[in-house]
Amino acid sequence: MRRHITLLLMILLAVACQPENNKKSRGSGDPEMDRFISGLMKQMTLEEKLGQLNLPASGDIMTGQTKSTGIAAKIREGKVGGLFNIRTVEKIREVQRIAVEESRMKIPLIIAMDVIHGYRTAFPIPLGVSTTWDMELVEKSARMAAQEATADGICWTFSPMVDISRDPRWGRVSEGSGEDPYLGSRIAEAMVRGYQGDDLSANNTMLACVKHFALYGASEAGRDYNTTDMSRIRMFNEFMPPYQAAIDAGVGSVMTSFNEIDGIPASANKWLMSDLLRDQWGFEGPVVTDYTAIMEMTDHGLGDLQQVSALALQAGVDMDMVSEGFLNTLKQSLDEGKVTMAQVDQACRRILEAKYRLGLFEDPYRYCDEERSKTEIFTDANRQFAREIAAASFVLMKNEGGVLPLKKGGTLALVGPMADNTENMPGTWSVAADFSQSTSVRKGLEAVAGSEVKILYAKGSNVVQDTLLDSRISIFGKPTYFDKRDPAVMIREAVAAAMKADVVVAAMGESAEMSGECSSRSDITLPACQRDLLKALLATGKPVVMVLFTGRPLAIPWEAAHVPAILNVWFPGTEGGHAIADVLFGAVNPSGKLSATWPQNVGQVPLFYNHKNTGRPLAPGSWFQKFRSNYLDVPNEPLFPFGYGLSYSTFTYGDPKLSAEQLSGNATLTLSVDLTNSGPADGAEVVQLYIRDLVGSVTRPVKELKGFQKVFLKAGETRTITFTVTPEELKFYNSGLVYDWEPGDFDLMVGGNSDAVKTARVNWTK
Ligand code: NOJ
Repeated sequence: MRRHITLLLMILLAVACQPENNKKSRGSGDPEMDRFISGLMKQMTLEEKLGQLNLPASGDIMTGQTKSTGIAAKIREGKVGGLFNIRTVEKIREVQRIAVEESRMKIPLIIAMDVIHGYRTAFPIPLGVSTTWDMELVEKSARMAAQEATADGICWTFSPMVDISRDPRWGRVSEGSGEDPYLGSRIAEAMVRGYQGDDLSANNTMLACVKHFALYGASEAGRDYNTTDMSRIRMFNEFMPPYQAAIDAGVGSVMTSFNEIDGIPASANKWLMSDLLRDQWGFEGPVVTDYTAIMEMTDHGLGDLQQVSALALQAGVDMDMVSEGFLNTLKQSLDEGKVTMAQVDQACRRILEAKYRLGLFEDPYRYCDEERSKTEIFTDANRQFAREIAAASFVLMKNEGGVLPLKKGGTLALVGPMADNTENMPGTWSVAADFSQSTSVRKGLEAVAGSEVKILYAKGSNVVQDTLLDSRISIFGKPTYFDKRDPAVMIREAVAAAMKADVVVAAMGESAEMSGECSSRSDITLPACQRDLLKALLATGKPVVMVLFTGRPLAIPWEAAHVPAILNVWFPGTEGGHAIADVLFGAVNPSGKLSATWPQNVGQVPLFYNHKNTGRPLAPGSWFQKFRSNYLDVPNEPLFPFGYGLSYSTFTYGDPKLSAEQLSGNATLTLSVDLTNSGPADGAEVVQLYIRDLVGSVTRPVKELKGFQKVFLKAGETRTITFTVTPEELKFYNSGLVYDWEPGDFDLMVGGNSDAVKTARVNWTK
């Protein structure tokens, strides 16, 4: 408190005051903060207020096309509210020093970064974290990321990314939690809890930022930054829930998306940013745009920089990332009466509030503790956790004849373009990870198998054979090490190794930057050169285990039909190699389940489990029927359904039992099911509860996830798993966009994936 007063005194300078003519209509609930910020704002010039709305990129790390320039001078002049993509305590302390010692108002900077799946210790890509279905692990991963990032000077993360997507062509499915609004919402909450903790002002918690608001994952044709367009009823039932869940969990900030909604880009969309976000959902924190999203509205066709900046402010945006449209044009818009001082004040206040909540006014160097930076980053404990969460994220797609787990003995041929690569292990958007210190599959296998297994290595193929494509997928310090040899020579070398081995492990799939931002693919199959390698390996007759790297669902029906064992490891993070070895050799039993459907081919996309029935549904299990909703050339079924994943054990479900078959009003129903670990190994199963509302005033999905539990059972153990259902789980947005439930029959389905369920019916009256 004393520091607040000192700071206030320091800023009582004789300057022309800009009256804050926008007294907040309602208080923030923290009168001390309100007083402090009002006092501060009374001293600020218009230019200084606009400076607070400006968020340039430091230039340390590139995450967009435009570079910010002359940053130190701008900080001194009070033209910078925060910085992002800067790291290390030393550098951050220096920019903070300029802000609090050399700028007139001495307002500390807020320092941000994309800390989206770990920090220096990289965890699996978010899509991988989501396939753990383990909310404790999810929360802990965010907690640990916050611990490391704050020890390096950063107090604001642009995470969680909660965009629902049903289109694996879109490369950014790798950064989200898949296709389901219920699972996505639980993950959003866990991430917010993890980053922000109970006390945002603690030096090891950070401000979270839910992104990209909104509907970014629904870009047309899966092409990044493309237009989105959807009905309100779909929007609210299927795409909005995770954003709202993050808001309800107390997320401190929101980032706009690049796409348009109803013809208006998100950053200028008043309905989205004010009517919905503020008025309906009650969000009071700052809204920041995505990278240059304001100036991009010129290309969207909304006008020049002045015009689009005014639109953004009017819509309810508070902070301008990189465009400098707020900084350079809002004064003129004010003079011309295009925006109001109240709008500027409102935005400025929200940013100052975030800084206050982070404790930056009390101590601008709160996150600049050299000691912490030496002892709390990339620790053994964090790496151990990275290994644990990576192993928990792997999805065993196939294991014919029990090829896995591998025996520790004999000779193993390790082949494939991802077998001996460290840089690609952390996956996309791992901006703070130290690639050189991640563990390759080769290193991991050698460490875990020790001298008991002889490992023969051959690369076997490139990721892709097309050099232009290779240059696009090997950027940001993640080389694919393109091998210029004749592909046939590489395959021969791998086959020679396979011939000498008892088993072949083929580490292949995408490189890290084949998914992620601006990495859309129109073809989501395994690249041809890798398929050729696989064919040659299979022809040796040796058992082949495919360790599949990918940042998206792939269309791999051929591989699924021919390769006996497939372990999907996404991009597993710093400890990927060790975690892969743990699972291959059976120290860890795989338990990941898909959070997004895998199609048979790209023509089925978008393909998702919670679809509508249509008026001409295809009879279950059949393929083609004339005048039914289907394809001539591919069945409707996915290759792997939502919720799918095998184990080294098997889990058997009893019949679900209901506490009642007839309920009325606000009652609670209990569903219980006996789950038996009927296989040879201890292991975990994700028990999933789906509901279908059989008759509604609007059409309802064929099933919707409404609960899940990840349970660990010893081999042979049986446990009764119980879910409770209330009318809350039956609610949906109707055609009037009223969120309510309707009486009638409901099917409750329980099982180990969305396609393998046992059903019980209940009638629920109002
Ligand atoms: C653009 C991305 O869309 C967003 O997710 C990220 O937070 C910003 N760049 C900042 O790096």
